[in-house]
Amino acid sequence: MDSIKDIDTVALDENEPAVVIIDQRLLPGEVRPMHLRTPEEIYDAIKTLAVRGAPAIGVCAAMGIYVAAEALSRENPSDDDFIQAYKKTSEYLDSSRPTAVNLSWALRRMERCFLSAMPAPRQEVLETLKKEALAIRDEDVDMCRKIGEYGVELIHEGDGILTHCNAGRLATVRYGTATSPIYQAHERGMNIHVFCDETRPLLQGARLTSYELFSAGVDTTVICDGMSASLMREGRIQMVIVGCDRVAANGDVANKIGTSMVAAAAHYYGVPFYVAGPSSTIDIDTPSGRDITIEQREGYEVTDMWYEKPMAPKGVGVYNPAFDVTDASLISGIITEKGIIRPPFDTGLAKAFGGKTH
Ligand code: MRU
Repeated sequence: MDSIKDIDTVALDENEPAVVIIDQRLLPGEVRPMHLRTPEEIYDAIKTLAVRGAPAIGVCAAMGIYVAAEALSRENPSDDDFIQAYKKTSEYLDSSRPTAVNLSWALRRMERCFLSAMPAPRQEVLETLKKEALAIRDEDVDMCRKIGEYGVELIHEGDGILTHCNAGRLATVRYGTATSPIYQAHERGMNIHVFCDETRPLLQGARLTSYELFSAGVDTTVICDGMSASLMREGRIQMVIVGCDRVAANGDVANKIGTSMVAAAAHYYGVPFYVAGPSSTIDIDTPSGRDITIEQREGYEVTDMWYEKPMAPKGVGVYNPAFDVTDASLISGIITEKGIIRPPFDTGLAKAFGGKTH
């Protein structure tokens, strides 16, 4: 297998209880499917970014808890024990990464479904869980397609578009969020050019976004993270579209570290800055960006991970937050499956997503 174009990023194996992902740590060099069969394998795949991107993590966790429930059901003949073991495993998976709300959103939805199915014959409970995980997957595909339909209307012939990190099909099941409007513009034959921030330290932009857009035939250029302001100054970027890991009720957005710097530069140079995200990433229960937990990762990712030799003196301090918060005031619009939400975001988000509970 050497292309990701026609495969779902996260899927259920048809022959055995296993989640199948593409190991994103190996991209773009190698496209290798990976089978996740145990809670530990699912936890590690999420933690180490073998599967990553807010929606993909949510779908993986939903499928993962179903796969785990198959074994837990066999190991726990008593219903009480089964329920306790299910809840413990769900909490364990939820602790793999803290910032993307899709993870806890998907696990809570699966738990509600599990508890309302219990007690019933075990095969029935497992079938219900499987159906719910597949529904979460199908809804993700549908929401990403709709984000593309709304977002493409913002793109003009000849536009230079900047994106940061990977909010592409690899971060979802298909299409992506930030890339969905780009794919649709490309399919319409529009002449567009996409700049991908390499996205230090884990290089999701260089390794993943440029790979998937370039292999789809989109005119694509990789730039270092510090280059985007200069391209904006030269008038080569007409819009920015990024994804999101959590959108707070006031419109503050957590996304990959570096996003807020891009938003500040875009604001200064008068370039519209759009965030694309499905309702599963909108967290109306979190009032503002200050309430979002930002994942801190190992300093080794900054100094050693992609290099032959360490790129900083041994023992030096390293700060490695995986995400940052972009102030709502820097955002031109949030592209969702329900349309484009414009400022003021608190009222717009409450109107569109107020009834949603996480
Ligand atoms: O650490 P990652 O690679 O999981 O971070 C991913 C991002 O920040 C994406 O922009 C976000 O999850 C949106 S994915 C549609």
